[in-house]
Amino acid sequence: MVLVQPKETSMALEGKHALITGSSRGIGRGIAIALAENGVKVAVHYFENDGAAKETLEQIRKRGSDGFIVRGDVTRSDEISKIFHTVKAEFETLDIFVSNARPEASKFFQPPLDITLEQWDAAFDSQGKAFLVGVREALPLMRDGGRIFAITYAEGSRTGGHQPWVAMGAAKAALESLVRYFAVAVAKRGITVNAISPGWTEDSVLNTLPEEAQKMIRNWHTRGWTPMGRLGTPADIGDVVVLLCSEKARWITGQIIYADGGASLMNPEVPPEIQIG
Ligand SMILES: NC(=O)c1ccc[n+]([C@@H]2O[C@H](COP(=O)([O-])OP(=O)(O)OC[C@H]3O[C@@H](n4cnc5c(N)ncnc54)[C@H](OP(=O)(O)O)[C@@H]3O)[C@@H](O)[C@H]2O)c1
Repeated sequence: MVLVQPKETSMALEGKHALITGSSRGIGRGIAIALAENGVKVAVHYFENDGAAKETLEQIRKRGSDGFIVRGDVTRSDEISKIFHTVKAEFETLDIFVSNARPEASKFFQPPLDITLEQWDAAFDSQGKAFLVGVREALPLMRDGGRIFAITYAEGSRTGGHQPWVAMGAAKAALESLVRYFAVAVAKRGITVNAISPGWTEDSVLNTLPEEAQKMIRNWHTRGWTPMGRLGTPADIGDVVVLLCSEKARWITGQIIYADGGASLMNPEVPPEIQIG
């Protein structure tokens, strides 16, 4: 029997280049910092908060790495292309692409009977379409063995209870489907394409919700829905990206990786107190 050796696709992170959409704040910033801690140079992408983007870049530099800031609206394919032109001019190559940006809730948050088509489009354009355009722009810059990620919210894409999430839930489902198709399309190049699904995360959109809603969400998770007893942090998700960028993760592709302290393991029909015993 002839043993097929894995293709040599070294992914030691020092000196690699990454683009993370929506890395001015929240989970995107956590991913940018975690990669920078491992020597990756980062294109920090933002939409409206240039001050927050500058702060992310400062954090990157404090960790001994470097990068630059690039602006763009990911709901517009021409602006996505411009982001990649800047990446090419600054970095020449790209090793890691993370599609993470998501518009403000006001742009899409509406139940199915009330949602406008504009809100629906904001969700879909920022997820599946932005990923389609982004990955196609990223691939010519990417060497074999690169890494592509979509940040999803798989609870929203498979459930129907949180009604105003309808457009983003459906858009995330489309995004997850696209991850699988792209994973097959680029597999021969040793490029992996995965979705990461965080649970509720601190220092993110959560902190923009009304105080009462934040309290209810935190209580729900600490009292048992997240078996690890806390919410996630942007650093938790950043570390998952670093892990999957390792050469040792070369055989994992087309998957939805839940990074949620076990929250997705819970049975929605039984109160958490009974489940965790
Ligand atoms: N937070 C959670 O608990 C949680 C849980 C599961 C999954 N997720 C997913 O994780 C990702 C990040 O969520 P987050 O809560 O960390 O985000 P966030 O703190 O709300 O930050 C959103 C990011 O997206 C950028 N952005 C907003 N509208 C944009 C547009 N039209 N074009 C380009 N960029 C735009 C923002 O840039 P500016 O700063 O310039 O506005 C910002 O960097 C999302 O895909 C979300 O669905 C989040």
